[in-house]
Amino acid sequence: MATALITGGTSGIGAGFARQLAARGDDLILVARNPDRLDEVATELKERYDVAVETISADLAVPDEVQRVAARLASVEQPVDLLVNNAGFGIRVKLTAEDSGPHEHGIDVMIRAVLILGAAAGRAMSARRAGTIINVSSTSGFLAMGSYSAIKAWVTAYSEGLAGELSGTGVTVTALCPGWIRTEFHERASIRTGSIPEAMWLDVDDVVAECLSDAAAGKVISIPSRRYRFLMFGVRHLPRRWARAASRRMMSGRH
Ligand SMILES: NC(=O)c1ccc[n+]([C@@H]2O[C@H](COP(=O)([O-])OP(=O)(O)OC[C@H]3O[C@@H](n4cnc5c(N)ncnc54)[C@H](OP(=O)(O)O)[C@@H]3O)[C@@H](O)[C@H]2O)c1
Repeated sequence: MATALITGGTSGIGAGFARQLAARGDDLILVARNPDRLDEVATELKERYDVAVETISADLAVPDEVQRVAARLASVEQPVDLLVNNAGFGIRVKLTAEDSGPHEHGIDVMIRAVLILGAAAGRAMSARRAGTIINVSSTSGFLAMGSYSAIKAWVTAYSEGLAGELSGTGVTVTALCPGWIRTEFHERASIRTGSIPEAMWLDVDDVVAECLSDAAAGKVISIPSRRYRFLMFGVRHLPRRWARAASRRMMSGRH
């Protein structure tokens, strides 16, 4: 029986991973800040899927709390087979804002914690010669929409680097790069979504299913849905100035 640790497993994409992994019989370890919500989601999953669910209440912006989660990933007695580095949020603040706090908070949770948890999982899994790491990045990482794009570009490049470093160890690494999905993400970051065409919204369960299938196939970059694969092929292969112009247009609809 496998065990999966999911950061941000109480909402949106992380909760989607939790449901699908529990449905296939995996035991879970859910990590998020809100302890009441962790208990609520864990109880629901245990009752519905008859799997074991541990919870770790931790703020991944806080180094000591990241270390607690890393220690759980390092456990030899209770091994973790799959890590989903998913916790994250949008950053709507301008790069020139006087208060760089929101950008630094994003770097702490979506870069620093991802690096530390990925390293802990990579060491433990490669010692056992088996394991899966999924890092939730974004199609924004192929664009130029402020610090969020820069952070997600790091997550994608980091995943490619980690996949290379762990190649031949039995551990696979996949960067999930989804487009827009209706979760709490946009409301939490006060991002206006009115101008996003209906056809650009993806279903969370479809995204998770496609990612799990890509991870099982050993794909390093997973871009769910044909429409986003087509669009991202364009973004990655057309002149870069077009991607910058499209990013500027999308950003102007948000601020
Ligand atoms: N939704 C989209 O359109 C979209 C598209 C591409 C990529 N993504 C990426 O998908 C990931 C998940 O986002 P989502 O859309 O599912 O958002 P969401 O519904 O807001 O869920 C975010 C989850 O992360 C947890 N979290 C947030 N900050 C945390 C912290 N400091 N420490 C620990 N846990 C924390 C939240 O729980 P607590 O608040 O209790 O901590 C929650 O469980 C993010 O990395 C995001 O960048 C989202």
